[in-house]
Amino acid sequence: MIGGTMPTPSPARVHEFEVVLNEPIADGVYALVLHAPALAAALKPGQFVNIAVPGNAMSLLRIPLSYASADAEAGTAEIWYAVVGEGTERLSQMKPGDTSDLLGPGGHGWTAPEDCQRALLVAGGIGVPPVLCLARELAARGVAFDVCLGAASGSCMVGVEDFEALGAGEVRVCTDDGSAGYHGFCTDPAAELLASGSYGYVATCGPEPMMAKVANASAEVGVYCEVSLERMMSCGFGACSTCAVETTSGMKGACMCGPVFDAKEVVW
Ligand SMILES: Cc1cc2nc3c(=O)[nH]c(=O)nc-3n(C[C@H](O)[C@H](O)[C@H](O)COP(=O)(O)OP(=O)(O)OC[C@H]3O[C@@H](n4cnc5c(N)ncnc54)[C@H](O)[C@@H]3O)c2cc1C
Ligand code: FES
Repeated sequence: MIGGTMPTPSPARVHEFEVVLNEPIADGVYALVLHAPALAAALKPGQFVNIAVPGNAMSLLRIPLSYASADAEAGTAEIWYAVVGEGTERLSQMKPGDTSDLLGPGGHGWTAPEDCQRALLVAGGIGVPPVLCLARELAARGVAFDVCLGAASGSCMVGVEDFEALGAGEVRVCTDDGSAGYHGFCTDPAAELLASGSYGYVATCGPEPMMAKVANASAEVGVYCEVSLERMMSCGFGACSTCAVETTSGMKGACMCGPVFDAKEVVW
C-alpha cells in the first residue's frame, strides 16, 4: 500500500493534443511529435505523460511515456516509443492531424546537483528519451557529460547523434549482439568511466538490472546517482497503487514520488 506516502496534489492536467508527426526512427521505435502548447511549456526533464490512444473501446488505460524533447515556442513535445504491445501498436497507427488527450506532466524529474561539473549518463534500450532531455538541460547549464548507450542491436539504437550534437564528451555505444560499438552491456564502459573518478552525478534509465548495476557502481565510488524507474501505471496521478516501488523508507508510487528516484533509496 502506497497511499500515505504520495505527495499531493499531482502536477498533471488533461491536455488535448494533435499529432504533428509519428514515424519510425529505428527498428520498432517511433518518434511522435505532438502539439500541446501548455504541456510543452510545463514539461521538465525526467517527467512523463500518460497518453489516451484511441481505437480500442475496451482499453481504458493510458500509456505512460517519457518525452525526448519539448519546444515551448512551437508548442510541441517529442516522444520516442518502442512498439511492444497492443497499446503502442495502436499509437503507431496515429496519423498527423489525429487528436486525443493526455495527462501530464507526471511525477518529478532529475535533480542534478548545482555544483556538478561533469555527469555520466547511462541509457539502455528505450530508456534514452528521459536521459536525452537531461543531457539538453546539462548542456544549457554548461555541465560536461559523457554517455554510455546500450541496445540489443545497432538497428534499434536511438539518440547517438543527438547526444553528440549536444556536446557530449564521449558517447560509448554498446550492443548485445555486437552489431555496433562495444560487444556487451553498457554497464562495462560505465564502470570504467566511473573509476576515473571525475563525476559529480550519474543518471540512468533502462532495464532494471542495468540500473541496479549502475547504482551499485556509483555507490562504490561515492557519486550521487538517480534512476528513472518504469512501473505499470494505471492512473498516473496517485490513485491506484499499481506503480509501487520498494524503497528504504517503504513503498512509494513511481507516478508521483518518481519516476526519478535517488538510487540509494531503491531496494533492488
Ligand atoms: C514513467 C514511464 C515512462 C516510460 N517512458 C517510455 C518511453 O519514453 N518510451 C517507451 O517506449 N516506453 C516507455 N515506457 C514504457 C511504456 O509505458 C510501455 O512500453 C507501454 O505502456 C506498453 O504498452 P502496450 O499496450 O503497447 O503493451 P502491453 O501489451 O500492455 O505490454 C507489452 C509488454 O510491455 C510491458 N509493459 C506494459 N506497460 C509497461 C510499463 N508501464 N512499464 C514497463 N513495461 C510495461 C508488459 O509487461 C509487456 O511485457 C514508460 C513507462 C513508464 C512507467
Ligand atoms: S498510483 Fe501511480 S499509477 Fe496509479
